[in-house]
Amino acid sequence: MMCNLNPQSAIHNPQSYNLAVEVGGIFMKNPVMTASGTFGYGQELASLVDLNRLGGIIVKGLSLKPSAGNPPPRTVETCGGMLNAIGLENPGLEAFVQEKLPFLQTLETPIVLNIYGHETKAYVELAERIQDLEGIAGIEVNISCPNVKAGGIAFGTDPKMAFEVVKAVREKTGLPLIAKLSPNVADIKAIARSVEEAGADAVSLINTITGMAVDVATRRPKLANITGGLSGPAIKPIALRMVWEAAQAVRIPVIGIGGIMDALDALEFLIVGARAVQVGTANFVNPRATLEIVEGLRSYLVKNNITDISNIIGSLRTEQGASPQVEYWSDGFAGKK
Ligand SMILES: Cc1cc2nc3c(=O)[nH]c(=O)nc-3n(C[C@H](O)[C@H](O)[C@H](O)COP(=O)(O)O)c2cc1C
Repeated sequence: MMCNLNPQSAIHNPQSYNLAVEVGGIFMKNPVMTASGTFGYGQELASLVDLNRLGGIIVKGLSLKPSAGNPPPRTVETCGGMLNAIGLENPGLEAFVQEKLPFLQTLETPIVLNIYGHETKAYVELAERIQDLEGIAGIEVNISCPNVKAGGIAFGTDPKMAFEVVKAVREKTGLPLIAKLSPNVADIKAIARSVEEAGADAVSLINTITGMAVDVATRRPKLANITGGLSGPAIKPIALRMVWEAAQAVRIPVIGIGGIMDALDALEFLIVGARAVQVGTANFVNPRATLEIVEGLRSYLVKNNITDISNIIGSLRTEQGASPQVEYWSDGFAGKK
């Protein structure tokens, strides 16, 4: 076998640059995943996006039974983002398996099912049933849901409840398990540590930040639900801070989410310690955002002759002194900053 001793030759062959990552047992060709609820079940975007080029697809949140979600209006555009109160509308696991899964099973991309329930036993039953399905790469547990028995407190806002639900799911599944964390907490490190202790293979964060908007003319809330979840560029600095904190608090991999619109945003998350990223609201603005981010990351590696994306992950420099200058701009690089 020939060894590549000439670093210049890699520059002419973008394929020599490794974008592949492994996150808690999920093997991905690049670190770019779709965020739950913003990419449907994949098929809706198949005419616009080559789904096989994505790192991973996380489908819309699934519950055991179908859910109609909240009444409209359920979304509103805000400065630098959007509020949504979709209320986790979905067809339920059975219809998903019948109608959506067969298409997803034809893809070469890891498929992760995002699940939610209002009681621990609903999460457990979902995990048990998913365990037997073909072609599922992992489960993402959305713990931002209110626990009915605990009086509506979200599982993900209390370290003890977060521990219990993740542990209960862990006991029922051998699939890679990602715990998706809520940002609506005072101490994200404590929640991240509890789900790690409960057996999660990775954490993903952040989900949306609770917010609201008012129509001054009518003095009515703009969302029928009154409050909703804020997403998009407006939340990126908060998300980045929380991902950085979580990455320092746990040994399991962290997936960064929140306001990622282009490859530069994705790089920021990787630099603070995320091993992969999820792209959400950007899909509504530009359905091809995910693939442009993949190409932007590749372009960054090529431009700077960094042969492996893992060299970027957690490379934040906080010490005093000069930093090496790397170029991030090149032709085909997504984003204008
Ligand atoms: C319309 C919409 C629907 C969403 N549905 C879900 C969902 O079903 N499950 C979930 O865990 N997160 C859901 N999210 C949260 C996103 O997956 C993501 O965590 C959040 O939007 C932050 O990322 P972003 O700023 O890139 O959108 C939803 C977000 C939006 C905007």
